[in-house]
Amino acid sequence: MFETQPGLIDDIRARFAHVDTCPFQGPRVFFENAGGALTLNSVVETTARYAAIPDNQGRDNPASAALVATIAKAKADAMVMLNADGGQVFVGESGTELLFRMIRSACLGAPKGGNVLGSTLEHPASRSAATRWAELTNRPYISVPHDNATGAVEAADYAAHVTPDTRVATILHTSPVTGMGVDVAAISAAIRAVSPECLIIVDGIQHAAHGHIDIASYGIDGYAISPYKVFSRHGYGLAWISGRMGGLSHDALAGGPAENWELGTRDTGSYATFSDVVDYLEWLGSQFTDSTDRRARLGAAGTAIHAHEKSLTDAMLSGIGNLKGLADMEGVEIIGGTDNPRREGLVSVAVRHVPSDELVKRLSEQGIRVHIRKDDHYSGNILKPLNLSSCVRVSLCHYNTHQEVAQFLTAMQEITAPPA
Ligand SMILES: Cc1ncc(COP(=O)(O)O)c(C=O)c1O
Repeated sequence: MFETQPGLIDDIRARFAHVDTCPFQGPRVFFENAGGALTLNSVVETTARYAAIPDNQGRDNPASAALVATIAKAKADAMVMLNADGGQVFVGESGTELLFRMIRSACLGAPKGGNVLGSTLEHPASRSAATRWAELTNRPYISVPHDNATGAVEAADYAAHVTPDTRVATILHTSPVTGMGVDVAAISAAIRAVSPECLIIVDGIQHAAHGHIDIASYGIDGYAISPYKVFSRHGYGLAWISGRMGGLSHDALAGGPAENWELGTRDTGSYATFSDVVDYLEWLGSQFTDSTDRRARLGAAGTAIHAHEKSLTDAMLSGIGNLKGLADMEGVEIIGGTDNPRREGLVSVAVRHVPSDELVKRLSEQGIRVHIRKDDHYSGNILKPLNLSSCVRVSLCHYNTHQEVAQFLTAMQEITAPPA
């Protein structure tokens, strides 16, 4: 855990805006990271700096050249962070828009016939795009059932449904409802074992803040991120596509460069803020390794993030000091169970005798921000099979502390105590 390394957690927290105080509510513990992580101070400064520049890219003047260089650097930085050894990175309107664009282009570009494969674990962003473009390209959509007990999906589950003519497949890297990560490389290998040419697109939006992205090992064709969920800001999404995917027919200006997937003038500031994210993660990694190699530092950051977040969620589940954990609280159901190695910094709970909306409100009154998930089009795929109409999602990041977990458990103890 970061708190045992002198000064480290303070150094980390000092790099983020509104770390312990909401400008609208006052002091608060931020456990709503799956809705949008805290923003790096460097991102705030960079955004203001670039917003003031009137110039456009591609002109013969020093400002324009600087903007073009900023974008090129950010793309290179993102390639290092994603550990992609080919293909390209580009930005779009949002993670959702990029998933739609990649899945649409894959369905339209793949050879006719066959099917489209996805899983019931997925967020509606990829599921809606895949079902819509399967239908519009006259293909059946095959839905791989996830495991309700673990809140995840395995390679064997995909292997049971993939066919030699599966043309396009989607994978959710980490569920924003159960908090469980999946083994992307194993699922992709299971798909390719049966359908080697399948176009595989991954939703990495919930996973990105939780460390370790290694596209080179995944054998995939597309990966989407929402930067505001990984310490940057709102207003753009970021995608990586393979060379094969990049070569497919796609929306672009007629007569423009064939491999350009960007639509219209880019916001240089958004790209620049992604470099800030990579810089931050490299700095974090440098606290755990003497290596000056960027990938080694990013790898060290990923390992440290995972270990710290595991320590936080373990404390949340099993207790800390004299405080009981969620697992020992009366009437508390934990989605995905208490001892789940796939958990990535997120715990979703339903309390039998406290409605979820009331739990969110009472935690908020005690300065703890969490979020309700309902059995609607966002989360019904996870909650309905568990016979839950709602749950409360407690989502952490590496800048959260054991003290904040203790504050949360103290509040939960009081709220969930059965009436005297
Ligand atoms: C896994 C996952 N996919 C897709 C989305 C949609 O992302 P955005 O609203 O940033 O486009 C979210 C947002 O919560 C998510 O968690």
